[in-house]
Amino acid sequence: MTLFRATVVDTPSNPFTGGRLRSDDDCGLLVQLGVITARGPFETLRRVHPDEPVLDLREGMLLPGMVDTHVHFPQVRIIGGLGLPLLDWLDQCALPEEMRLADVDHARGVARDFVAGLVDAGTTTALVFGAHYAGAVDAMFDAADQSGLRVTTGLVTSDRLLPEPLLTTPDRARAESRELADRWHGKGRLRYAVTPRFSLSASDDLLEACAQTLAEVPGSVFTSHVNENLHEIREVARLFGGSAYVDTYDRHGLLTPRAVLAHDVHPSDPELRTLAARGAAVAHCPTSNAALGSGLFPLRRHVDAGVRVSLGSDVGAGTGFCLFKEGLQAYFVQQLLGEAGLPLTSAHLLWLSTAAGADALGLGEEVGVLSVGRQFDAIWVLPEPGDPLAVGLANASSTDEALSKVFALGTTSDIAGVWVGGEQIAAGHWRRPGRP
Ligand code: GUN
Ligand code: ZN
Repeated sequence: MTLFRATVVDTPSNPFTGGRLRSDDDCGLLVQLGVITARGPFETLRRVHPDEPVLDLREGMLLPGMVDTHVHFPQVRIIGGLGLPLLDWLDQCALPEEMRLADVDHARGVARDFVAGLVDAGTTTALVFGAHYAGAVDAMFDAADQSGLRVTTGLVTSDRLLPEPLLTTPDRARAESRELADRWHGKGRLRYAVTPRFSLSASDDLLEACAQTLAEVPGSVFTSHVNENLHEIREVARLFGGSAYVDTYDRHGLLTPRAVLAHDVHPSDPELRTLAARGAAVAHCPTSNAALGSGLFPLRRHVDAGVRVSLGSDVGAGTGFCLFKEGLQAYFVQQLLGEAGLPLTSAHLLWLSTAAGADALGLGEEVGVLSVGRQFDAIWVLPEPGDPLAVGLANASSTDEALSKVFALGTTSDIAGVWVGGEQIAAGHWRRPGRP
């Protein structure tokens, strides 16, 4: 058992429906076998548990671990390829790199780099877009297992339009996916994600095979891309006889509360109604949408339609793993949308990067907030003394203001500790609590 002592900030209720930031100064969290078993004023908990070891994290603030609901493992080494729209970026940057993962040794190195990126950014749970090769996905599961992170991932499948080495067939996709799911789904903190790359590269037969795999692996998640780029959307409509993009998945029964579709920058109102009716979630990927010039995300339309929205870094089109940066970019976009925008507070940004992600992944009862009964997945934000974020935090007049500064100024180097299920897993920036 450990008694954590910190300023604890989280979002137990949805700020889009009136919820507020919860902030407790000098809060005690008692963690037993990875689970928070008591929460309250530190001195009160200390009286009840006088002998438990105390970890004093009163400097800085303790937040729930970040939840990244859309991030591509094979793309960690190509982050920063700017200047191209989606389909050109895929052809020139992403797909040539992804073909290299046919070599399992190479894939192991990429998986290690990728996991380090997540941990460093304080991402404790992620829905990871895998690779087109079963050996590479196996390497990703293995790296995730060793890291202790909560990772949902799977074989990416396509059967048309991509370079030939990335293609499969519906039968092979199903067989390889089942094999990977049998090996990894439900092991430790790992789960399987059925992952056709996007309808543009997936025939109806392949999507039907995906639906079968989803049914055969109880508790698996469905993920793909949707409505990201106007040219892509036109091509999908042409290939599917004029169909709306969302419907290409929906007609195979792939959209359920366990589905997460990335982007949705250009949805029609009927598509939003379909997503809401199915309970499917959308992973908003703000830096990717800006980097590829995909468009300005219509968050207000999603919220008004009742569609669940979470955040994704979309590495490597996105410009890094840090969800503080994604939150800030999400805020910028809503500001730039003027009347159509939905002004975001720091509570919204924390919700989107933690509890909303947990909810989108079906893990809302386990992680996302630091309440009694939840897993202790947490990050300790502690800037170096004298750094502008440290100055800002010292001079903030409220927690909302302090948290806004974290999103405005925070980077991965301000994350001084990362815990998953009560285990301290961070590597790079770990700092000893109580330093002078
Ligand atoms: N659509 C299909 N594949 C991809 C990808 O790798 N990145 C993004 N941003 N969109 C995609
Ligand atoms: Zn993506």
